[in-house]
Amino acid sequence: MPATATLDPALGFVDEPVDPTLNLVDAIQDLKAEKNALLLAHYYQEAAIQDLADYVGDSLGLAREAAATDAEIIVFSGVHFMAESAKILNPEKKVLLPDLNAGCSLADTCPPEAFADFCAQYPDHTVITYVNSSAAVKALSDIICTSSSAAHIINQVPDDQPILFAPDRNLGEYLIKETGRDMVLWDGVCIVHETFSEKRILRLKTRHPDAEVLAHPECRDAVLQHADFVGSTSQIRRYARENGPAAFIVATEEGILHQMAKDCPDNNLIPAPPESGCNCSQCPHMRLNTLEKLYLCLKHEQPEITMEEQLRREALQPIERMLELSQGVK
Ligand code: 13P
Ligand code: SF4
Repeated sequence: MPATATLDPALGFVDEPVDPTLNLVDAIQDLKAEKNALLLAHYYQEAAIQDLADYVGDSLGLAREAAATDAEIIVFSGVHFMAESAKILNPEKKVLLPDLNAGCSLADTCPPEAFADFCAQYPDHTVITYVNSSAAVKALSDIICTSSSAAHIINQVPDDQPILFAPDRNLGEYLIKETGRDMVLWDGVCIVHETFSEKRILRLKTRHPDAEVLAHPECRDAVLQHADFVGSTSQIRRYARENGPAAFIVATEEGILHQMAKDCPDNNLIPAPPESGCNCSQCPHMRLNTLEKLYLCLKHEQPEITMEEQLRREALQPIERMLELSQGVK
């Protein structure tokens, strides 16, 4: 039974004082075992959360884990669209997100009403939507994709079938080059990846001439042009594991460096800097989740992801198509 407490909807999490001397890591492990809860974490979570997780991965890996689990409770340490996808796949399970306000700036660029109007302008187009989108936007789409599976999925759409891709413009432009398909793009960007600086990466390359640049496809083309490898978070991690020991300039949210450093302590991992003077490239949405909120979320089994059944069913189909069409993608 969850301990009783009220969720403050304005805050997005249970606001209860936590004894500062409590060992949160032990307490979370105990609650997880007691409740048979599966803890899924994205690479952009703080290191302590990643270390507690049953599975750490990219969006595709996390969706696959969510689809396969028989745990009664899924705690999703990631952002809202990820937990929402887990709920869409598991209507009978309790899906928890430590902070309900952990959204995604990219998903926010694509409100469902405006997206419906946009799609209506291209009625004959297959709508392929990046997983970083709300359930309502997914429900308007034909197929969902992740950064790891997008090119693979697009390549399976017949050549004469026009495609509309949303919401990430940078990923869309990258995919047009990769697949040779001329797609209509929605104009959205991620605030974290959009800000990596080409100039500062070039300066880093001058200081580390042997370093390879590994970049996430949400980065701008000016950055991707200098990349030796472009891929999802899991693919970037794998590339560094398989091609080290070496120096790598990593152009994605810096949380990924935790697993990369554990994989290969001999690699020299250099975070790519953003345009601004500061050197931090953390996703402010992902970082709303903290150990303390994770503990309270497990203790009270709140905040929980809920949605209308009709919407869930409509969003499920394109997600299932993604899982089907991305078989074999690593
Ligand atoms: P990945 O699927 O590559 O982990 O990307 C998720 C994300 O939000 C990138 O900003
Ligand atoms: Fe969204 Fe960007 Fe954060 Fe990924 S890094 S969750 S795309 S805001």
